Amino acid sequence: KNIVVLVSGSGTNLQRIIDCIECGEIPNAQISLVIADRECFGLERAKKYGIAVHIIPRGKNFSFELKETIPENTDLIVLAGFLSILNKEFCESFNGKIINIHPSLLPKFGGKGMWGHHVHEAVLEAKEKESGATVHYVTSGIDEGEIILQNSFPLAENETVETLAQKIHQTEFEIFPKAIKIVLNKM
Ligand code: GRF
Repeated sequence: KNIVVLVSGSGTNLQRIIDCIECGEIPNAQISLVIADRECFGLERAKKYGIAVHIIPRGKNFSFELKETIPENTDLIVLAGFLSILNKEFCESFNGKIINIHPSLLPKFGGKGMWGHHVHEAVLEAKEKESGATVHYVTSGIDEGEIILQNSFPLAENETVETLAQKIHQTEFEIFPKAIKIVLNKM
């Protein structure tokens, strides 16, 4: 199965996916291309493994250019810390083939503006008792698609944005490869 990964940042989730493919935890899969909407460390990680990379800067025709860039034989598009919004046409043309990871227990703390540390700040401010991560299908409604996998943990009394971010990342590393396997197995 051919996977295209979209990144905007440090790419630790991308690294986890690469590792899981290499060690056979995600079998019969390869990352054919990593696409970013900016220069970012995720691209460096991909290059280290000889994976093709491509940058499409944010702009008016972003989703169209992205669609043109995705190879035809792509089975799955994985958003791994990708910060641009994909338009309706793009989401519909790859319906059921795009998944995203989100650093909260969706539907809580999802939607526009809910990314990175904003999410953790909002969770702490709301005095939530737990948080976690969610892998879901991507539809044109932001963070609204069907949930594939979710994992939660209780918040500590002295939880900070930093400690929360670290725990969320660990949770993401657990559920992302599992979710990818679930989705690929259904194909
Ligand atoms: C993750 O926490 C993900 O949930 C969010 O952005 C972060 C990406 O981290 N959408 P990385 O680039 O995989 O390290």
